[in-house]
Amino acid sequence: MNKKVTKAVFPVAGLGSRFLPATKAVPKEMLPIVDKPLMQYAVEEAVAAGIDTMIFITGRTKNSITDHFDKAYELETELEMRGKTEILKILKDTVPEGISCVFIRQSEALGLGHAVYCAHSVVGDEPFAVILPDDLIEDGNRGCMAQMVELYNEKQCSILGVEPVDPSETDKYGIVRTSDFTGKFGAIEHIVEKPKPDVAPSNLAVVGRYILNPAIFDKIKNTGRGAGGEIQLTDAIADLLNDEQVLAYQFDGKRYDCGAKLGFLIANVEYGLLHKELKDDFATYLKDLVASKA
Ligand code: UTP
Repeated sequence: MNKKVTKAVFPVAGLGSRFLPATKAVPKEMLPIVDKPLMQYAVEEAVAAGIDTMIFITGRTKNSITDHFDKAYELETELEMRGKTEILKILKDTVPEGISCVFIRQSEALGLGHAVYCAHSVVGDEPFAVILPDDLIEDGNRGCMAQMVELYNEKQCSILGVEPVDPSETDKYGIVRTSDFTGKFGAIEHIVEKPKPDVAPSNLAVVGRYILNPAIFDKIKNTGRGAGGEIQLTDAIADLLNDEQVLAYQFDGKRYDCGAKLGFLIANVEYGLLHKELKDDFATYLKDLVASKA
């Protein structure tokens, strides 16, 4: 019988050091793009892909993520009393009906592989999605994870979301080499974490979207510390490749690297230009600003 992807893991226990001091007390994943935290875009993408169980791997200083996905009784009652029905609906939609949220603490930030491993007892023996909220992807449609789930339903194997990056930037990503690339996807032959440009096997970078078979958990368990002294998911995937096919999927859509300041600013500008209430005024403001600087 074909297996379905019903669970998503959100590893959000990292330090967010590139965004200090903003992330001293506020998790990077709670920084807003226009009017929604990154974390909420990620959950909405999972819901759009048909996923109903959200597993958050959190750490110290991440309590606001738990609060964000909890029911806000006092606030709801207050808004109801004041007749603010539209805002109340936005608030209630934070966690749509039928969605369960599970929170797990990663006691030490030992790396992305270790964070994913923390979900193993909740995921069990099922395929699951991994979404890194600081990679925000806009496809103008149902979302990147929905594209990947569709491919998973057909192929029933692990899939990594990839995109070509500037060859000078391979040392920021996991990089794959595929044996072929027919249309949108190819079978991965080799994967390596953060290779220097002169030894990178290609410029095809893994970004923050994965669908993984549960066999990955045993692989992570046997993975030692890799690049940066962390337990790397990439190294466990390299091991998985010895046993199973893993596909690289070049998704439709634009990725914003919101873990970096420039990517975060660009995302705010471009999402501002898409926002139904703000887009016209904001476009006028930007045009005037550019004209005044010319
Ligand atoms: P990053 O490499 O972006 O690290 O982690 P970071 O700590 O979040 O940010 P910087 O580099 O210090 O600015 C990639 C993803 O893996 C998660 C992070 O939360 C992020 O979503 N992660 C990383 C964990 O959950 N646990 C870890 O031990 C490491």
